[in-house]
Amino acid sequence: MPKAAYVTNVNQNPVYEENAKVLAHITHPGDQFVMRLHAPQTAAKALPGQFVHLRVSNERALRRPISIMLTDPEKGTVDLLYKVIGDGTRLLSERSVGDVIPMLGPIGQPFDLSDTSKRYVLIGGGVGIPPMIFAATRLQGKANCVLFAGSEVAFPFALKPSTMILPGVDGNAILAITSLEERGIASRLASNAGLYGCYEGYVPNLARDYLLALDENVRQHCVLLSCGPHPMLHAVANAGREFDLPTFLSLEEHMACAIGGCAGCVIKTLEHGEEKYRRACVDGPVFPAEILPEFA
Ligand SMILES: Cc1cc2nc3c(=O)[nH]c(=O)nc-3n(C[C@H](O)[C@H](O)[C@H](O)COP(=O)(O)OP(=O)(O)OC[C@H]3O[C@@H](n4cnc5c(N)ncnc54)[C@H](O)[C@@H]3O)c2cc1C
Ligand code: FES
Repeated sequence: MPKAAYVTNVNQNPVYEENAKVLAHITHPGDQFVMRLHAPQTAAKALPGQFVHLRVSNERALRRPISIMLTDPEKGTVDLLYKVIGDGTRLLSERSVGDVIPMLGPIGQPFDLSDTSKRYVLIGGGVGIPPMIFAATRLQGKANCVLFAGSEVAFPFALKPSTMILPGVDGNAILAITSLEERGIASRLASNAGLYGCYEGYVPNLARDYLLALDENVRQHCVLLSCGPHPMLHAVANAGREFDLPTFLSLEEHMACAIGGCAGCVIKTLEHGEEKYRRACVDGPVFPAEILPEFA
């Protein structure tokens, strides 16, 4: 696999503490929620792959990390998609429009989208889809990109049949994410839950079918970016190795402070043959797959 640059620049990323006001909070099937916050400093600076750390309730001292799905720097808004899995996210789901949520953001090392000669293949699973959507919107008009999203519950987005042809993609996978399709960004969906218009199977297999069908000259310019559950990230890392493509993974590790102070999120890396320990919150959450022994 080609070497992917890994440079930490923790001190160059400002993290703001804002009182984010809830502007909208929409429930979707499968305990999924989309929340729009007014947080102008985060909205102005956030980059794809970064996240916010939310004080979900006054009763919980520990904040909860949630990826940034979209920002509108002009309106000062930040959109999040989250799923209720425990106490903290349940408390978050009970917040109403008009509530104020203490928030730190934007945090972490973003995806590197700077090489516009590349074709970015974005692969998101479940609550790993939001950073992929953010990346796709920032790549719009700058570089080629395609987004593949997988979910075992109904997708919390408006969907429509795609008019954009993608090589290698199963004929049943006709649906795309409307907001991306309307921006001219190709997307396709995968699910094992028999959802209409989706590829029947896991999302890395859908992405692999696409990569396999590309002309070798096109494929060699691809970069894989991914976020989602670990089995999915393993499959994406395998595809990166199979096609010899740079692969970057965003890790959703357990976090406490999320600002680099507690070492509660440390992961082991192997860099130039040397074992190191990196904090997923500020040295990540995005890492090149090749330095992560878990995904080797
Ligand atoms: C960088 C990052 C980005 C994330 N982005 C999203 C997102 O966009 N949408 C979304 O729904 N979820 C996201 N998560 C996962 C989300 O933070 C957890 O689901 C949430 O913290 C669970 O809290 P809880 O109290 O509801 O669950 P509990 O299981 O009760 O949590 C108990 C403790 O474990 C931690 N924890 C539990 N599961 C996870 C997990 N998967 N990852 C990290 N910490 C966990 C919690 O922070 C808490 O301290 C992200 C996690 C990270 C690290
Ligand atoms: S969560 Fe404290 S150092 Fe990362």
